[in-house]
Amino acid sequence: MPSSSSSDLHSGRSRRSFLRLAGLAAAVPLLSETQLAHAALLEPQAATPLHTIPKSSHRHGGRASKLAGAIPADAVFINANENPMGPSPAAIAAIAAAAAKGGRYDPANYVDTLTDLVAKQNGISPESVAIYAGSTEPLHFSVLAFTSPTRPYVMADPGYEAGATAALDSGAKVIRTALTKDYAHDVKAMVNASPDTGLIYICNPNNPTGSLTSRADILWALENKPAGSVLLVDEAYIHLSKAESVVDQVAAGKDIIILRTFSKVYGMAGIRAGLALGRPDLLDMLARNGGNMLPTTALAAAIASLSDPELVPRRRKAIADTRNATLNWLDNNGFKYIPSDSNCVMVETGRPSREVIMALQAEKVYIGRPWPILPTHIRITVGLPEEMEKFQTAFAKVMGKTPVMTS
Ligand SMILES: Cc1ncc(COP(=O)(O)O)c(C=O)c1O
Repeated sequence: MPSSSSSDLHSGRSRRSFLRLAGLAAAVPLLSETQLAHAALLEPQAATPLHTIPKSSHRHGGRASKLAGAIPADAVFINANENPMGPSPAAIAAIAAAAAKGGRYDPANYVDTLTDLVAKQNGISPESVAIYAGSTEPLHFSVLAFTSPTRPYVMADPGYEAGATAALDSGAKVIRTALTKDYAHDVKAMVNASPDTGLIYICNPNNPTGSLTSRADILWALENKPAGSVLLVDEAYIHLSKAESVVDQVAAGKDIIILRTFSKVYGMAGIRAGLALGRPDLLDMLARNGGNMLPTTALAAAIASLSDPELVPRRRKAIADTRNATLNWLDNNGFKYIPSDSNCVMVETGRPSREVIMALQAEKVYIGRPWPILPTHIRITVGLPEEMEKFQTAFAKVMGKTPVMTS
């Protein structure tokens, strides 16, 4: 049973959060980038259908456990769309300060402070903000809440697979629609996929392609989706791109939930904080599937991150600079890729992707898992400049090229 300080329970809003947290516990594993990446490491030869992901990946998020001894210390990890810059200095200072007060559940009313800050910055009411330990939980809970054996889950292909795992538990049919020729979500195909759809999932920018879907297309989907369905827009990578948010649709009271995470631009994947933004009645449906209080360290770091107006533009530029240098190198060396406006890029190899993944591992470079619909593409995450240089050297070797090193 989650706990709250007494000051928490006195405010109506915190009481609402408390009641949300008091829902039934979820009975299925939550899978995110790290578990999917970990599964690919543990069983690199397997096709890794979601339901056969090794149990140890459910329990341990990280890449350690069984592989700890096998992974060289100087390996490069560009396999889980993490941000190698880590938390900002202000966030680290806030974590230290919060840790010292960690004997209490919420010693400084961090929950309400973060809720109010998010609400203010996004032009929505505090009741439309739910805080989670990352966006994996609200993504999973959305699928449990709005899909069922008679209400399908609709997603793009290639797309971020985690919601399809939850659909295994809700019993929903998963309908995958191809991206358009510009690698946007095909909103017409998604909307027309079934008259009974329970949840349509749009990830903008998309993972794994880093491609964008226009605001106009997302609004069209919102207006034309089947009656009774909900649109779930995953904005995990939005701050890294020029994609336009649709968070204003929350304030407009539409059937939409927006997911945000502190794992990407804010570099807090291991600290764990994320958000679901939506109408209170929709958020209550999510909360019936589970939830927990966040560590105060995570809450404090999230508040510090949102309080620095320079952080997002600075990091967006740093990641874009490294991405563009990498794309330049790929161009100069004759490699093709899907245009990306995010921190991941799908590179065409002309070979079975698993073979290239394994060959890069032998060079101590760990990249993303394969996506069956793009059998010869590999996904690389934009790491630090020096990590991308190691990738370039290894990739040229694996592909049998003498590299042109100018980036
Ligand atoms: C599209 C997308 N959504 C959600 C998540 C979940 O991340 P987290 O639980 O760290 O917020 C990820 C992780 O990589 C992701 O790529």
